[in-house]
Amino acid sequence: MALQRTLSIIKPDAVAKNVIGEIETRFEKAGLKIVALQMKTLSKEEAEGFYAEHKERPFFADLVAFMTSGPVVVQVLEGENAVLLNRDLMGATNPKEAAEGTIRRDFASSIDANAVHGSDSEASAAREIAYFFGG
Ligand code: TYD
Ligand code: MG
Repeated sequence: MALQRTLSIIKPDAVAKNVIGEIETRFEKAGLKIVALQMKTLSKEEAEGFYAEHKERPFFADLVAFMTSGPVVVQVLEGENAVLLNRDLMGATNPKEAAEGTIRRDFASSIDANAVHGSDSEASAAREIAYFFGG
């Protein structure tokens, strides 16, 4: 399995809960290296563009409002099988369905405020990394 990169976001709820360090430690202990990182508050346009694939979904407006509600950590993680490994560490979208020991199980409060984002495929990872770190 080749080295991969994936886009990770520590969302406003997790930043507000003061668990950036605990979440980063999970990535690092699992062998994922943080190779780029920025802390920022997303604009409405940035959040809408990032989640454009969901723009017809009923939760889109709430998702954009949540993602712009406070600072986030946007980062690139690198490692063997990084895309799937990150998704495994994150757990299911709904923290009530997330496996024990996953980031969402331990730090997320609801399906909309669910602590972390991770690219869902190599193609998404390439697009999402370029979106925040390209050019
Ligand atoms: P999605 O890409 O389906 O989940 P994931 O983050 O696990 O890749 O959805 C993107 C985000 O949209 C999700 O993290 C939280 C929000 N969301 C809701 O608020 N309600 C929902 O019913 C779904 C499916 C997602
Ligand atoms: Mg997704």
